[in-house]
Amino acid sequence: MDDIIFLNGDFISKSNAQISVMDRGFLFGDGVYELIPIYNGKIFLIDKHLSRLKNSLKLINMKSDLTEIVNIKGTIEHLIQTNNYKNIFIYIHITRGIQNQRQHIYPSEIKPTVLIMGEQYPSFTMEQIARGFKACIQNDYRWAKSNIKSISLLGNVLLKNLAAEQGMFETILMKNNKLTEGSASNVFIVKNKIIQTPKLSNELLPGVTRGLIIGLLQDKNFQIKECDISVDDVKNADEVWCSSSTNEVVPIVNIDDNQINDGSVGDMTLKTYKLVQDFINNY
Ligand code: PDD
Repeated sequence: MDDIIFLNGDFISKSNAQISVMDRGFLFGDGVYELIPIYNGKIFLIDKHLSRLKNSLKLINMKSDLTEIVNIKGTIEHLIQTNNYKNIFIYIHITRGIQNQRQHIYPSEIKPTVLIMGEQYPSFTMEQIARGFKACIQNDYRWAKSNIKSISLLGNVLLKNLAAEQGMFETILMKNNKLTEGSASNVFIVKNKIIQTPKLSNELLPGVTRGLIIGLLQDKNFQIKECDISVDDVKNADEVWCSSSTNEVVPIVNIDDNQINDGSVGDMTLKTYKLVQDFINNY
């Protein structure tokens, strides 16, 4: 059966949803988004996701008072109920809105387009996690505002497909010999028992899962550093993993055909995977 989605104030079936060709999201990729997990019918870390959404809106000069735009929590709860969602991801897409002419300059008064819908992303099995995944390294040629969760994802799309075409999970991105993030994830490495991840900047998304992992590891008194990480650091790491809302902890055991930890998933990665799964199961 067709899912019910929310579009501009209406709850309608997904196949009936339509937007104008003059929407600035369609014409310019002018908008921002969020992806929020629903586990066992509960909205996961909604405050963290909504505060990032507000920040993304602010950074593209849109009104960031969400209550003026849409009741997001109420809408998600309605979608969960109507569609009987248990485990799903809620995709929130807000564009600057519709303008009657295609032009770069946006008017000061324009009504945002709001789409909220459920999307299914299968999670990896324990066997897949235990085996680990491959990745490649590429130059991060995206724009310099990757902290904004922008719907303009062409760079990320091309970079993710580069990995997928080679049967790899992720493309790990480097800018000026500094690790930024993955094409659709944040990246952690472990060296001599110290866990490292790039510090937040305009070059990477402040991942909600990244923040959760850092907090959980600190609570357990593991040593964790937010710092610069070079290509050599990544290639010579004892362990590498990627984090995101869709696949919380993904072990990387091979990078550009070089094995990490002799090609097997390390202890710290598995501990982190378990910490996050336990947190989700007890949420
Ligand atoms: N993306 N960096 C990038 C470029 C991402 O696209 C994502 C996630 C992350 C991790 O953020 P979080 O932990 O908040 O999900 C980091 C989502 C899953 C997507 O675009 O589908």
